[in-house]
Amino acid sequence: MKNTTTAPVIEALIARFGAPPQTAVVLGSGLGGLAKRLEDAQTADYKTLGLPEPSVAGHAGRLSIGRLGQARVAFLSGRVHLYEGRPTDEVVLAVRCMAHWGVQRVVLTNAAGGVDPSLQAGDVMLMTDHLNLTGRNPLVGPDAERWGPRFPDMGRAYDPDLRAQAQRVAGELGITLHEGVYAAMIGPSYETPAEVRMLAVLGARAVGMSTVPEAIALSQLGVPALGFSMISNQGAGIGDQPLDHADVSQAAAKAGVTLGRLIQALVEEWG
Ligand code: HPA
Repeated sequence: MKNTTTAPVIEALIARFGAPPQTAVVLGSGLGGLAKRLEDAQTADYKTLGLPEPSVAGHAGRLSIGRLGQARVAFLSGRVHLYEGRPTDEVVLAVRCMAHWGVQRVVLTNAAGGVDPSLQAGDVMLMTDHLNLTGRNPLVGPDAERWGPRFPDMGRAYDPDLRAQAQRVAGELGITLHEGVYAAMIGPSYETPAEVRMLAVLGARAVGMSTVPEAIALSQLGVPALGFSMISNQGAGIGDQPLDHADVSQAAAKAGVTLGRLIQALVEEWG
């Protein structure tokens, strides 16, 4: 039986790192380099903390805590995905632990395909909302009350005040920050062209395979979240290139450089 409770992880976090940082950032594929910018960084592998380990290339499974300017921040390099065949409560355990440890906000990042043809590889999109098309919900189960209300409101899943702040800081840095709805599919196959057309009809601007379970868990916990998509490719049927994980990761890294600047500035402002 895998651990899906936060208590032993919180104990390990306190023993290793002490008090919680103000902000936790989940680094999607392409953003791993951000952890290298930390000052006075301390790291721990997920395994040693009792957190589930990712099994996908490009997802390290390491927690780094340090400072950016005056602000203390946790970078979670790597996450567990539904498409790895993992139960939803394993997928959201890391963010639940951050919340119970006491972080004040969580930034969720991902690599995503552009559903709106105007989005190009290398663009960054602020998530305004999501479509949960994974067929799963991390709050399903008998004892969800220990995390928060049984039927949490999802109207502010991506905190409006944090979003306004992100747009202002992006403007100050000269970064174009697109906005839109992110559709989550379970994967791991990419979408068909017909599915991408369907997602556009439903109002999505980007599609990916993560983030939504974590955003649902954080809404239930009442912890403000912010979500960013690094557009790594145009959705199937929009461009003429077949989708390939290595190309997608490389293109996400390009958007990751821009997003890294924005996240650093935001974290410093929150500090
Ligand atoms: N679809 C789903 N997930 C993704 C994509 C995509 O096109 N690109 C990166 N992650």
